[in-house]
Amino acid sequence: MNLLLFERIINIIVVITNIRGVTMVYENKKYNILVVSNEIKTINKLSILFESSKYNFELIRDPLSAINEVETKNYDLIIINFTFSQKLLKLLIKKIRIFDAFTYITLLVENNNISEALEIVKDYDIQAYHNKDEDFNKLVILVELITNSIYEFMRVNMTIDNYSSDYKSPYLTTVQILRNIVEYKDTYTIGHSFRVSKYSLLIGKHMKLSRTNLKNLKVGSMFHDIGKIGIPNHILLKNCALTNNEYLQIKNHPLIGSHILFPTTIYSKIIPIVKFHHERFDGNGYPAKLKGEEIPLLVRIVSIADTFDAMTSGRTYRKSLPLDVVISEFEKNKGTQFDPEITDVFLDILKNDFSKVKKIQEKYT
Ligand SMILES: [Fe+2]
Repeated sequence: MNLLLFERIINIIVVITNIRGVTMVYENKKYNILVVSNEIKTINKLSILFESSKYNFELIRDPLSAINEVETKNYDLIIINFTFSQKLLKLLIKKIRIFDAFTYITLLVENNNISEALEIVKDYDIQAYHNKDEDFNKLVILVELITNSIYEFMRVNMTIDNYSSDYKSPYLTTVQILRNIVEYKDTYTIGHSFRVSKYSLLIGKHMKLSRTNLKNLKVGSMFHDIGKIGIPNHILLKNCALTNNEYLQIKNHPLIGSHILFPTTIYSKIIPIVKFHHERFDGNGYPAKLKGEEIPLLVRIVSIADTFDAMTSGRTYRKSLPLDVVISEFEKNKGTQFDPEITDVFLDILKNDFSKVKKIQEKYT
C-alpha cells in the first residue's frame, strides 16, 4: 500500500471513530456508485459487492459514455478499471473533477500496470486504488472506509448548509467581505462583479436556464474574481504594461479563488466558474486549457459577461469601448474565445434588448 493511500485510510479511520454516535443516520444513506469497466470478471465481483440496498449501483462499459453520465449525475464513488487507454482515463478523470470536485475516485489496477496507475493517482486527485491481484476482501474494506468517509464529509457540509442562518450567514458574509476587499483593492473594478453577475443572469434567462442554474450563475459570477485577493497591490493596480512575471502572477487568480472557496460544498457548483472563467472556447485559455464544451456551460456564459464588462467599463489599462466596436469584437471572437451559440444569444441582447444592459450599467457604476 503506498503512503498516500495509507495516510488517507488513517484519516478515514479517525473520521469513523468520530462518527460512531451517528451510525443510525448513516445506515439510511444510499450511496451512488458508478463502475466503469469492460472486464466481465471484475463486473461480476463488483455487482455482488454492490448488491446491498445501501448502494445505487450503475455500470458503464466505456469511459466516453461515462463522461456523458458524470455531466448530469452526481456519484459518491466512481470505480474505474485501469484497462482503458491512459488518454481516455485521463479525459474521464478530468471531466469528473470539472463537474464534481468531491467525488471519490478509486482505480482498479493489476501488478503489470500498477506503476502507470500510481502516476495517475499522484497527478490527478484520486483518493484510492485497489490491486485486483490481491484479496478482493481488501476492496470490500476499502469501499466501506470510503462510504463512511463520504458520510462524514456530507454530515459536516449538511451541518453548514442547513444550519440556522446565524451560522450560515457569517460564512457567506465572510466570502462577501473577501469580495469587497478585492474591489476595495482595485477601485476600477468596483461594481465589476455585480455587473458581471447581472449580465450573466440576463444571458442565462434568455437561454431559459433552470432556476438552480440561474442561482449558481448568480453566485458564481459574483465571486468569479475573488482570487485577486491573493495578487499583490503593486501588480493589481499597475497602470502601465505588466511584465511577463507580473502577468503570470495575475493569471493565478482563478486557482487562488477556487482554493478560497474549496472548504465547503456550498460552493461546489460555483467553483468551476471561479476556476475556469479565463478558459477560451478554442482551448487557448488558462489555467487548464479546457476546450469547447469541456468548459462548463455556466462558465462559458460568465466568460462573455466578464469580457463585455472589461470592454465597457473604464479600466486602468483601457478606456471603455463604444457599442459598435464591442459588437464587432464579439462577432470576430465567436468560436475562438467564446462559445458561438452563447455569443449569438448575447449579440441578440446587445442589438435588440440593449435597454436591459444599459439599466445594469447605470445601476452598478
Ligand atoms: Fe478574472
